[in-house]
Amino acid sequence: MRILGIETSCDETSVAVVEDGMTVASNVIASSQAAFKKLAGVIPEEAARRQVECMIPVLRQAMDEAGPAPVDAIAVTRGPGLLGSLLVGTVTARAASQLWNLPLIGVHHTLGHLSSVWLNQASDPPAFPCLCLSASGGHTDLWYRTSHTQGRLIGRTRDDAAGEAFDKGASLLGLPYPGGPAIGKASETGSATAHAFPLPLRGDASCDFSFSGLKTSLKYLLRDLGFDPLAPGNALPDLAASFQEAICHHLLDRLLHAIELYPDAREVHIVGGVSANTRLRVLARECCAKHGLTLRVPAAGAYCTDNAAMIASAGFFLWKELGEKAFAPFDTVASLPLEESMPAA
Ligand code: KG4
Ligand code: ZN
Repeated sequence: MRILGIETSCDETSVAVVEDGMTVASNVIASSQAAFKKLAGVIPEEAARRQVECMIPVLRQAMDEAGPAPVDAIAVTRGPGLLGSLLVGTVTARAASQLWNLPLIGVHHTLGHLSSVWLNQASDPPAFPCLCLSASGGHTDLWYRTSHTQGRLIGRTRDDAAGEAFDKGASLLGLPYPGGPAIGKASETGSATAHAFPLPLRGDASCDFSFSGLKTSLKYLLRDLGFDPLAPGNALPDLAASFQEAICHHLLDRLLHAIELYPDAREVHIVGGVSANTRLRVLARECCAKHGLTLRVPAAGAYCTDNAAMIASAGFFLWKELGEKAFAPFDTVASLPLEESMPAA
């Protein structure tokens, strides 16, 4: 089965063709991120305008790169995200579905991220039950999953998302958007133990997250230090490394708690933009090795951040597990809790 995936939930325009949910035949991503670098964020109307311009060229390139074999269905992100951006994708997908007489599958953006560890893993596919930490700029969730369509949301952020903490921290440190890669790079020459941050929700019985306190701690630390982002030889590397360490430790502390609560989980998956973080991967690998668990992160950096291959993959598994119910009509919506459409595990 070849699925054409379309993803336009934020500032990316991405189209992919994926075979049997795992083998990526093409995955084209056009990003307008460079345009937003100086702005510490995305301007929704501007992002959607750029997506209208590049949608058709990206679609054509993805179809060309995938080769002439026909596709069997179209999967598109129906939400959550920026409404104008989402509509560029769903309107295109509906038109293509009518034109080519193909079934259309509406996919939740986060379900796409959860599927991203299946991409290019056909020789050693992930196994259920698993714990999945999905950490991006818009959400930070912990899932206990028993299939592609059954799972339980066991933890979520109570305020900022992990990626948002990186983005806001980067902005305070005078670094560009997106903040995760910028903080990762600045940390390379810094000491992770130079500054201590409090561990949020220490000992909390839930598997929830909270990042806004870390951002506030950084703000007051910078004020107390008289930090000047433009001063040569400033303490940027140490501050970036310590802040990154605090975010990673909080993510792992909550993950460890989930590992204790769900001892039948066989694997740990970390997905979403933040899963690209090198330090997080090192710490997660140590933690999983200690507990005899397999750790999976997306097989390529392009599968961590928003991409259409993960949407095509999720669409395939929805079709496989739900049959024609996967083709049910859907709305395009900016806010869409995944747990409402996922039967409890
Ligand atoms: O999944 P994604 O592309 O978009 C959303 O669905 O939000 O995630 C984007 C987020 C941004 O907040 C960005 O700062 C963060 O992922 N990010 C990273 C890294 N690369 C992207 N965070 C930490 N380290 C990275 N290397
Ligand atoms: Zn995302």
